[in-house]
Amino acid sequence: MKVDGTHYRSLWWDESKGSLQIIDQRWLPHDFRIESVETIEAFATAIVEMRVRGAPLIGATAAYGMALAMANDPSDESMDKAWSYLNATRPTAINLRWALDRCRATLRAIAEADRKDAALKLAHEISEEDVGICRAIGENGLALIRQIAAKKPAGEPVRILTHCNAGWIATVDWGTATAPMYRAHDEGIPLHVWVDETRPRCQGALTSWELGSHGIAHTYITDNAGGHLMQHGQVDMVITGTDRTTRRGDVCNKIGTYLKALAAHDNGVPFYVALPSPTIDWTVEDGVAEIPIEERDPRETTHIQGKLDNGSIASVQVTPDGTEGANHAFDVTPNRLVTGLITERGVCAATTEGLAGLFPEMAQAA
Ligand code: MRU
Repeated sequence: MKVDGTHYRSLWWDESKGSLQIIDQRWLPHDFRIESVETIEAFATAIVEMRVRGAPLIGATAAYGMALAMANDPSDESMDKAWSYLNATRPTAINLRWALDRCRATLRAIAEADRKDAALKLAHEISEEDVGICRAIGENGLALIRQIAAKKPAGEPVRILTHCNAGWIATVDWGTATAPMYRAHDEGIPLHVWVDETRPRCQGALTSWELGSHGIAHTYITDNAGGHLMQHGQVDMVITGTDRTTRRGDVCNKIGTYLKALAAHDNGVPFYVALPSPTIDWTVEDGVAEIPIEERDPRETTHIQGKLDNGSIASVQVTPDGTEGANHAFDVTPNRLVTGLITERGVCAATTEGLAGLFPEMAQAA
């Protein structure tokens, strides 16, 4: 997508430098900084510190990390070491393990001498596939937005609430939850997006930055405002992303998603989740019981980062000295609260049958 008129992806390979380029998201939306990732430690740091973030982007980044490991040492031992090291960076988003597993399975079958080139090619493939998947999610979600728009008086916007950032910078391009919004806007359907702030890290500010750059009308709201807006008929649909969805359609996503789903259910507001197939964990049934929830540094709750009036970016303390914080990064929305899953192959019910119907070969292989 475009930043100040230039088209960017959230990561890209620089042939001349022989390294991966990322947008360091810690500084967005205030500062657009590009960083070169050149060591396996730097790959891990980029994921842990959320310089790159969002389930699909973490997966694509890890694939390039494997490529670097193979360039340094193409042995099985080096591959296994890189797999374990990178897999330990963040526990919840399944795309990380999906990408690492895919790299390892493919590269194992290739002679050591050929692994360097094959690993880089595979990382490029995973990135390109992600772009295609997100574009297709955009098309399938667009159909849902069109249906809502068709029932409204001409010119009235479709009002969508979203949580966290499941935008183009959380994927390689397009985003998952945002892809239908971009497509609808480009088609001339009037939209208004309610953007949840998403404390503690305020990924909503990233979503505002994305939507604003694309000219989509939006309003940044506190995390607790969604229920109120739904009660007052101000939300036509909710679309969020996901970090891991179980085979029966339980959805793990950024903390607070569950509360939005409850409020949507109580108010009869359709609650959709944009779901790329690499985010399905076919080995897990019950999301609440089985998905590991990342707990991050409590300092992210007791402090908040922003731009000061003098333009510098700073972190400020919001709680009394010594206050204990707890920072559960994700929660699970049971499938009964999910109206539908918007995938690259179509929209399905959040059920075992729904997912297996769209992805029979994956369901069978699991
Ligand atoms: O902790 P983050 O910022 O990586 O969490 C991101 C989310 O929860 C997104 O909704 C999810 O990864 C989907 S991104 C297309």
